[in-house]
Amino acid sequence: MPNSSQPPGTQGYAEQAAELIPQYESISFVAHHAAELHLLPTVPSRILDIGAGTGLDAAWFAEQGHSVVAVEPTAEFRHAAMRLHPSPLIEWLDDALPNLDVVLGRGQRFDVVMLSAVWMHLDATERGIAMPRVASLLAPDGVMVLSLRHGPVPAGRRMFAVSGEKTVELARQHGLGVVLNTHTESLQPGNRAAGVTWTRLAFRR
Ligand SMILES: C[S@@+](CC[C@H](N)C(=O)[O-])C[C@H]1O[C@@H](n2cnc3c(N)ncnc32)[C@H](O)[C@@H]1O
Repeated sequence: MPNSSQPPGTQGYAEQAAELIPQYESISFVAHHAAELHLLPTVPSRILDIGAGTGLDAAWFAEQGHSVVAVEPTAEFRHAAMRLHPSPLIEWLDDALPNLDVVLGRGQRFDVVMLSAVWMHLDATERGIAMPRVASLLAPDGVMVLSLRHGPVPAGRRMFAVSGEKTVELARQHGLGVVLNTHTESLQPGNRAAGVTWTRLAFRR
């Protein structure tokens, strides 16, 4: 059974971190986020990366001159990220969806909110709690980027079948309109062979 103090969705990650870290580091930000690159700010901006994993995305944003708050509840990833991608422009926080109490308590707003490969780790109740909270963190002209994994669930992990349509509707209920909605196959050869696909969404107010 998972540890009851473990945030929802992180099940299996600590145990599999050694194997997953090189996998997460193997695909560049530009390849991974090609669909939404055109929506990202080109002047130094405030980025919130929720479920930031090993920090590859946070590091790319920092290299572009953005200030990044990277949220990662799995200590194994957070510590690896700080070691692999040290940057004065990245601040790492131990916080988790759905409540994001630490982030919300800081009263900041962000030009980009990244929810890359994390939303399907939440069940319907958790998604209902999380959506208004993440929406409230978006600056008026900000963009929220969200990707959803579809297909077989890796052993030991906690994932739900979440459709793009359901996510677009939930976001709409909280004042966010969809500006990108694409469906792609996985870039990871093993996952692609297993039939994993992704929905990539972006939202603005
Ligand atoms: C598939 S990885 C994605 C990592 C990175 N965002 C990327 O796109 O490569 C999912 C990440 O979400 C984190 N995670 C799982 N449940 C979470 C929750 N409730 N709140 C925040 N992060 C969570 C995991 O610890 C893991 O780092």
